[in-house]
Amino acid sequence: MSKPKVFVTRAISEKGFELINDFCDVDLWMDDLPPSREDLLQRVRGVDGLLCLLTDRIDGQVMDASGQQLKVISNFAVGFDNIDINSATARKIPVGNTPDVLTDATADFAFALILSVGRRLMEGERYVRNGQWKTWGPMLLLGIEMKGATLGLVGFGRIGKAVARRAMGFDMRVIYYSPHEKKPDPDINATRVDFETLLEEADIISLHTPLTTETRHLIDSEAISKMKPTVVLINSSRGSVVDLDALYEALKFNRIFGAGLDVTEPEPLPLDSPLLTLDNIVIMPHIASASKTARDKMSWMAAKNLIAGLEGITCQIVSIHRCINDLLTQGLRPCMSKLFFYNFLSLT
Ligand code: NAP
Ligand code: GLV
Repeated sequence: MSKPKVFVTRAISEKGFELINDFCDVDLWMDDLPPSREDLLQRVRGVDGLLCLLTDRIDGQVMDASGQQLKVISNFAVGFDNIDINSATARKIPVGNTPDVLTDATADFAFALILSVGRRLMEGERYVRNGQWKTWGPMLLLGIEMKGATLGLVGFGRIGKAVARRAMGFDMRVIYYSPHEKKPDPDINATRVDFETLLEEADIISLHTPLTTETRHLIDSEAISKMKPTVVLINSSRGSVVDLDALYEALKFNRIFGAGLDVTEPEPLPLDSPLLTLDNIVIMPHIASASKTARDKMSWMAAKNLIAGLEGITCQIVSIHRCINDLLTQGLRPCMSKLFFYNFLSLT
């Protein structure tokens, strides 16, 4: 029997790639840069499955270019704003993503940004390398004390909560804003507040929402004007959640203390961006989930999602943890070889 044809839009770690290679006839995009729109539209033609990255815009045009045999789209990311879920649902194409497996890596990185900006790590490093370090100074590169600081989390899902857990170890007060009330977690002491209160009370604000029409430019000049002048703003969600023009104005005139961005709008940030002229910002190239462990697990999960879709398994499993917990509470033992690591966003 012939193997299903799939297009994989970039090399992923072998943990998942070997699974795909065993099961499928793979067309792998070998370049380090994403396929152009034209290449994407051409290479998806006739495939049964597509494994894509957050850098690929997958809309109805791509689905139609592929053809009616397209059975599954597997996104190598937890965020799925690059995929038109409505178009996939209308065409009965299940879409997979990779939640949970990158939560800790991403939360670690958000915390690294909090410390880098709050304690001015990058500025200190530049100071040493530039030969400016002449002596110890009582007023040199003063930053923010973590203990007792109020951390405001915008979005209190998997990653937001993982950041809150880390904040407990720093003796921070944690407040959060999320549209829906959350069940209290025994290991997190956090208070839900409205968005405005969060902006006004937080010493550090860290963003952990998906990118949606509601969250696009959620942090604009109006939101920034409500923040403390001493606030540290961290974004490791999606670049478009922050209006970078407004952020630049605020940083330039020291209306806030500093910012740390793992994500920008656009990506990559152009080298002539005025943000790059400022000292009070740390900008990273979208690497919050980039631990070897997380990327291996993402690779494996994205492969499992792809193969499940090709096999026609379209049950909705919202999260692997929930799925395994459900089975355990029903007295069933999760079988690791089949069925338990799928995550589909659109349903047929
Ligand atoms: P998640 O578990 O789905 O959590 C998302 C949270 O955002 C939920 O608590 C949700 O609230 C909240 N939310 C939705 N709309 C909101 C709004 N308008 N205002 C405030 N909060 C809102 O997702 P996750 O796994 O934590 O991931 C979050 C996002 O991080 C992803 O979508 C992705 O874009 C980004 N991410 C980035 C990286 C990176 O490398 N930089 C890595 C991983 C993830 P309710 O539950 O109350 O609806
Ligand atoms: C990374 O940004 C992801 O959404 O997985």
